[in-house]
Amino acid sequence: MCGIVGYLGSRKALPIIIKGLKRLEYRGYDSAGVAVLNGSLEIVKKKGKVSDLESAIGEKKLDASVGIGHTRWATHGEPNDRNAHPHLSSDGKLAIIHNGIIENYSAIKKELEKSGHSFKSDTDTEVLIHLIEEIKIQNKCNIEEAVRLALNEVVGAYAIVVLSEDDERTLIAARKGSPLVIGIGKDEYFVASDATPIIEYTSEVTYLNDREMAIMKDGSLTVKSLENVIKTPFIQKLELDLEDIEKGGYPHFMLKEIFEQPKSVRDAMRGRLVSASHSLVLSGIDQYLHRFTNAERMLFIGCGTSWHAGLIGEYLFEDLARIPTEVEYASEFRYRNPVIRDKDIVIAISQSGETADTLAAIELAKSKGAMIFGVCNVVGSSIARTADAGAYLHAGPEIGVASTKAFTSQVTILAMMAIYLGLKKGTISKSKYQELLFGLDTIPDKVATILGKAEEILEISKRFYQASNFLYLGRGYNFPVALEGALKLKEISYIHAEGYPAAEMKHGPIALIDEDMPVVFIATKDSSYEKIISNIQEVKARKGKVIAIVTEGDTEIKKMADFTFEIPSIADPLVPLLAVIPLQLLSYHIAILRGCNVDQPRNLAKSVTVE
Ligand code: M6R
Repeated sequence: MCGIVGYLGSRKALPIIIKGLKRLEYRGYDSAGVAVLNGSLEIVKKKGKVSDLESAIGEKKLDASVGIGHTRWATHGEPNDRNAHPHLSSDGKLAIIHNGIIENYSAIKKELEKSGHSFKSDTDTEVLIHLIEEIKIQNKCNIEEAVRLALNEVVGAYAIVVLSEDDERTLIAARKGSPLVIGIGKDEYFVASDATPIIEYTSEVTYLNDREMAIMKDGSLTVKSLENVIKTPFIQKLELDLEDIEKGGYPHFMLKEIFEQPKSVRDAMRGRLVSASHSLVLSGIDQYLHRFTNAERMLFIGCGTSWHAGLIGEYLFEDLARIPTEVEYASEFRYRNPVIRDKDIVIAISQSGETADTLAAIELAKSKGAMIFGVCNVVGSSIARTADAGAYLHAGPEIGVASTKAFTSQVTILAMMAIYLGLKKGTISKSKYQELLFGLDTIPDKVATILGKAEEILEISKRFYQASNFLYLGRGYNFPVALEGALKLKEISYIHAEGYPAAEMKHGPIALIDEDMPVVFIATKDSSYEKIISNIQEVKARKGKVIAIVTEGDTEIKKMADFTFEIPSIADPLVPLLAVIPLQLLSYHIAILRGCNVDQPRNLAKSVTVE
C-alpha cells in the first residue's frame, strides 16, 4: 500500500514522478504529493487522487531534475493534506516518502518531543524524518549515515526515499518488508514501489533486499546493508512491456484483465502443459518431488481472492492427489501457534507477492521447518523470494484492485500441480490424467466463448444493479467460486454480498430470502447437480430471484431460474476456471451501472503491505 517514486538525473523530474504515481495509484489513492529539489525543497501535497495533486500543482513550475512523489493508502492519520507525503524535518531541509508502518513511532515521537521536536501531521512517517534529522545533528554525520542509524532504531516495515537540501544530487532509499526497485539509466536513477514507473526509461533494475539501502549520487549507486556492509547489486533486465500496463482501448483495467484471461490462463500453462503429448512438466515440483509425494499435509495460505484459490486447491489436492489439505487465512495463521510438522508443505498464494500477512505467515512456517512453495504473479516479489520453490503465474501485471486474471491463473497452477501429483502418487489413473489435461487445454477457448457472451451478463446486471444484498451459493468445487463472486461484487459495487455452501443456506441465510433478494447459484452439471436443484427450489418457494450459472444445454434449471447463463461443459475439478468468469463480469457491470470506480474502489489498495 502506498506508491513511491523518486528520480535523479538530468530530465525534468516532475513529469516522470506524476506519470509514475498514476501507474502506482492502484497501491493507494487517499492523497498524493511531490517534493523536488532545486536549491531548496519545494513541496505540493493534496488529499485525493494524483489528478487532484496535478490541479494543486497548477501552473507552479517545480523545475528540478531530482524529486520524489507519493500516493497514499492511509494507515496513521486520516487522509488529508496535512497527512499526505512527503513529510519534512523540523528545519524543512529533509523530505521523506514512505510505504509501510513504523510500529514504534509513538515511543520515538515522545523522545523527540522531549528534545523539542513538534509535529505537523499524525503520521509515523513524519516521526521517522525527525528522527533522521535528530541523529544527523547529534552524531554530526552525513545524511546517509543518519538514515542508516535511524533505520536501526525503528521497528516495522518501510520502503523510503529521502531527499536532503544539503546534498542536492543525492537520493537515499531503503527497504524492509515493503517493495522497492531501482532503475538504472544512463547517468540517471529511478526508484519506485514497482517497475511500472520505470519501464519506458530503462530496462535495467535492481531490487533492494530487506534491510538494504541505496545511495544514488550523480553517476554512482552504492548499495549497503543497514549493518554498513557494502553489497554488490544484482542488476537484471525488466521483462515488462509498456502495453502490459496500459488500458489498451478498454475503459477500465478490470475489464481488460477479465478479457485477457484466455491468454493469461494459456500463459500459466505455457511450458508446463505439453499439448502434443498431453503431459505436464512442472520443474518447480520435480526439484522436490520426493517431498511432495511424501507430504503428510498441504497448507494453503493466502488472503482474499488468493485464499479462495487456495480453497479450490484444497478440493483439488484432496480429490486428485489424496493429500490431507488445510486452507488458512494468513492473518489468522500468523498469530496462532500452528502445529507444523516437517512433512508439511506450505503453499503461499499471492498475486502481488507482497501481502504482509502472507509473508509473515510463511516466515513463521519456515521457522518451524515447513517447506514453502510460492504461487505468485509478481516476479522477484518478497513472497517469491522467501519461498524455497515455486511457480509464477505469468499473468502479466494486474492493475485493477479486484483480482480477476490472477485468480484463474492461480487455479490453473494449482490444478496442474494436483493432477501431476495425482499421477505421480498413483491416485488418479493415466486416463484420468489425460482427460484432465485435455480439459485444461480447452480452458482458454472456453473462457473466450464465455467472454463472447458478455452482453448477456450486462442485461442481467441492468435488472439487479440497485439491489442492496446478494447471496451466492455453490456446492463442491463451486462453493469457493460463490465466495469469490460475492467478494468481487462487494469490493467494487459496495453491495452487501455473501457466499455460502448452498446446503448451509437452510441453517440461517434462508431467513434473508424474499422477493428483493437476488441469489446467484453456480449450478453446473456436476456430482451435486440434483442437490443444488433442491436448493434453487427452496429459494424460489420463498420468492427469491434466481440467477443461475449452468452448463450449456441445461433445460431443467432454466425452467426454475429467473435468469440463466450457460458455460461450456468441463470436468468438475476445472469448473471454477469457467464459472468465475460470468461472476467477474456481473460485478463489473453492476459496479459500472452504480457509478463506482471499479479500478480504484474506496478504502482498498491493490497490494496490502500492512497488516
Ligand atoms: O496480492 P495478494 O494476492 O496476496 O492479495 C490478496 C488480497 O488482498 C486480494 O486478493 C484482494 O482480496 C483482492 N482485492 C480481491 O479482489
